[in-house]
Amino acid sequence: MITINLLIRLPIIGCMLIFPSLAFAQDGDPVAGKNVFRKCQACHTVQQGQHRQGPSLYGVIGRRAGTAEGYKRYSEAMKNYGIIWDANNLNIYLENPKKALPGNKMPFVGLKNIKDRQDVISYLQQVVK
Ligand code: HEC
Repeated sequence: MITINLLIRLPIIGCMLIFPSLAFAQDGDPVAGKNVFRKCQACHTVQQGQHRQGPSLYGVIGRRAGTAEGYKRYSEAMKNYGIIWDANNLNIYLENPKKALPGNKMPFVGLKNIKDRQDVISYLQQVVK
């Protein structure tokens, strides 16, 4: 019995080690994240194609940085960032945008609280479903 149990569990533990970003995203609370998103709303919407000072964040997870269609104000740094946004790199960016990507022009100090970041990321994931 014990062996079977271990056989079932090991791959799950392995996956959590290999994909910490998945485990990370699952920890977030999208309802609380909607509240956190108020801090972003001055500059961002989650409606497709509706840009403010910042680009629309509709479908941002899974999108290449600096490519929201119709948004013309990206910095060179963001256009050249070259990453695909996921829970992991959003977590790093949102903690301290200026440090994560020098030269980007998002005028935001960052979310210092990891729970706020988890929650807002899961909100962003959920609004497109
Ligand atoms: C005062 C305005 C402002 C606030 C507040 C703000 N942003 Fe931004 N954001 C911007 C601007 C401007 C850019 C474009 C930066 C660039 O091109 O260098 C941006 C870019 C981004 C990007 C990259 C988008 C892409 O298409 O690659 C993400 C993700 C993002 N912001 C998330 C957030 C989140 C989440 C919050 C709230 C926690 C937030 N921002 C708060 C102005 C803001």
